[in-house]
Amino acid sequence: MKVVERIKEIRNELNHVRKSGTTIGFVPTMGYLHEGHVSLIHAAKKKKHFVVVSIFVNPLQFGPNEDLDRYPRDFERDEKIAKEAGADLVFYPSVHEMYPTNMPMTIHVTNGADVLCGKSRPGHFDGVATVVMKLLQIVQPTEAFFGQKDAQQLAIIMNMVQAFNVPISITGCPTIREEDGLAKSSRNVYLEENEREEAPFLYETLRKGAEWIQLGETSRSAILAELKKSLEKGSGTLDYVDVLTYPSLEPVENLQGKVILAVAYAYKKARLIDNYILELK
Ligand code: PAJ
Repeated sequence: MKVVERIKEIRNELNHVRKSGTTIGFVPTMGYLHEGHVSLIHAAKKKKHFVVVSIFVNPLQFGPNEDLDRYPRDFERDEKIAKEAGADLVFYPSVHEMYPTNMPMTIHVTNGADVLCGKSRPGHFDGVATVVMKLLQIVQPTEAFFGQKDAQQLAIIMNMVQAFNVPISITGCPTIREEDGLAKSSRNVYLEENEREEAPFLYETLRKGAEWIQLGETSRSAILAELKKSLEKGSGTLDYVDVLTYPSLEPVENLQGKVILAVAYAYKKARLIDNYILELK
């Protein structure tokens, strides 16, 4: 497995790969890899000959009071995990390599960014869309793989490639969880012991909400009231909980079709997000 830090160099490498008719799968990450990321690398490896993983903590998607400086980083560990998972090339650019000057323009997400994380993290999805567009242009894969753990991000990226006619398929992969249901996340290392013990209640609450819907409760406000009641019992702070259509992310009172239950919950040093997607028949 090769590690490449410069855009010019990865372009060169991948031009050789492409010439031989090899298909390229791409998994963008911010590093501190865990089984969630590994599952994406495996999914890419299954479908494509050559797998590129990028590791880049993107400053553009962090707000001024967010955790950019303390975002966990350990490149040596990541390199080992990526290699064992079957990656063929790791792209590990510096901030200067990605943003040598202030960006003269960015992507502004107009649909699906005014709810959930887009509402509580203004500008976040503009930063995500901008860096993902750059990475897709640099790597030019045939297919890119994203986790459903970040379901809003996945929906926005799918909209973006369609809106800009980017000839790359976007594939969503299931959320990988700890045994007790907590979604794997690089930020879980910042949970205190009691928070770690409590945190699985987030997914459990969403699961129960989905069960109520499946049992016939289709009023968004009724489901929301129940979800809020359960989530407010935790020791952290509820950032948001919502029930929306998916992937269009609209607040429809009478739930039908594909629906997402999504939560963001802040503990002392880690803000966790999770979701549950179900299809109403
Ligand atoms: P990061 O949080 O590192 O996640 C990289 C990819 O791994 C995303 O597609 C995310 O949805 C997926 N992922 C994270 N936890 C997962 C889990 N438990 N199960 C399955 N997939 C999981 O998301 C980002 O980085 C950034 O926003 C990025 C897209 C790289 C742009 O900077």
